[in-house]
Amino acid sequence: MTTHLAEAAAARRAELVQSLAASGDLTDPAWQAAFERVPRHVFVPYFYDHTGRRISAYEAETRDQWFDAVHEDRALVTHRTDGAATSSSSQPSLMATMLEALRVEDGVGMKVLEIGTGTGYNAALLAHRLGNGSVVTVDTEPDLVTAARARLTEAGYEPHVLLADGTYGHPDLAPYHRIIATCRIDSVPPAWVRQLAYGTGTDAGQILAPLGNALVRIHRTGPLQAEGRFLPGGAYFMPLRHGTTAGVPTRRPALPTGQARPTDIPASALADNAYRFLVSVIEPHLDWQYDLDDTGKPTAARVWSPDGAIAALHPDGTVTETGPHSLWSRLEDAYRTFTEHEEPGPERYGLTIDNDVQRVWLDAPGGPGWELRRG
Ligand SMILES: C[S@@+](CC[C@H](N)C(=O)[O-])C[C@H]1O[C@@H](n2cnc3c(N)ncnc32)[C@H](O)[C@@H]1O
Repeated sequence: MTTHLAEAAAARRAELVQSLAASGDLTDPAWQAAFERVPRHVFVPYFYDHTGRRISAYEAETRDQWFDAVHEDRALVTHRTDGAATSSSSQPSLMATMLEALRVEDGVGMKVLEIGTGTGYNAALLAHRLGNGSVVTVDTEPDLVTAARARLTEAGYEPHVLLADGTYGHPDLAPYHRIIATCRIDSVPPAWVRQLAYGTGTDAGQILAPLGNALVRIHRTGPLQAEGRFLPGGAYFMPLRHGTTAGVPTRRPALPTGQARPTDIPASALADNAYRFLVSVIEPHLDWQYDLDDTGKPTAARVWSPDGAIAALHPDGTVTETGPHSLWSRLEDAYRTFTEHEEPGPERYGLTIDNDVQRVWLDAPGGPGWELRRG
């Protein structure tokens, strides 16, 4: 029975690798070999569907559904806290994109720190390629760390798996040639830069992380200096949890009632991924609510910021707002820059870190920019 499962799983992994190769998400033969070999089903013995139902290998009525899902190009929620998803196994195509973007080199003793162990599957892929001693992975959830360790052992891998707040990296095993975050950040934790190796070219220590809705890849340029660019396409991850870092507000206070004024931002822009990327960087914790037309396009919206700023965009193209800062004016300034520069996607932005200042810029370090607020 177990042999049959292992064989069936291996066949399904080979199919998935072929389709990821065909779509261009997985082109490096060494990563293709890792995805073919590492058994995702071992790391994801159950997940939760969109209704919160548990789809498990251990229950006869969900077993086939589970087996199909873990061999498809799907993100799967694997951990919930108070009904909210707190860990997932990311979509394999996105994992492949990230691993390729990490630009690791074989046989040179590269050490990689992963922030966000989750199921342990990504750590297993890294350990398969680079060796157990080269991979350090941390997560804040004790039960996830315990389960990941056991599953890694079952699959034959033994990277360093640690229970820790990844905001501080893991100084004991630094320096790292690569740091990969599988949770979303609003700014780069300074410890990550400090724990990167020095070097030139691809030898320079690099961080790859979802910042806002896209991936940023930066390399160390000084003691607390780093610089790099965002990569094309979107990357939607759960947030890095740290202390009291503001999250999405849990309740939505009443909407503003004052005088409406005209605005430059059309409701359609709120569905534009390129503009939404910029918003995700400059205002990372907004809670949006939309009215949609028959085609699914927004016609009106309400938005809440954790600091109490609230704005309502009305169907007639006017806006009302209230709160400690003019949230909508900030979004309008960004929209103006966005349209004046031909609606850039993430790949036209970069990030420069210089000590305490982290600045996202457009096209060049001296171009239009936004200073990141530190959580
Ligand atoms: C998308 S999941 C990671 C998926 C994982 N790489 C895998 O292969 O299954 C994001 C993970 O980040 C973890 N996380 C959130 N905040 C963290 C922090 N401050 N330090 C370390 N891990 C954190 C969550 O507990 C969650 O397991």
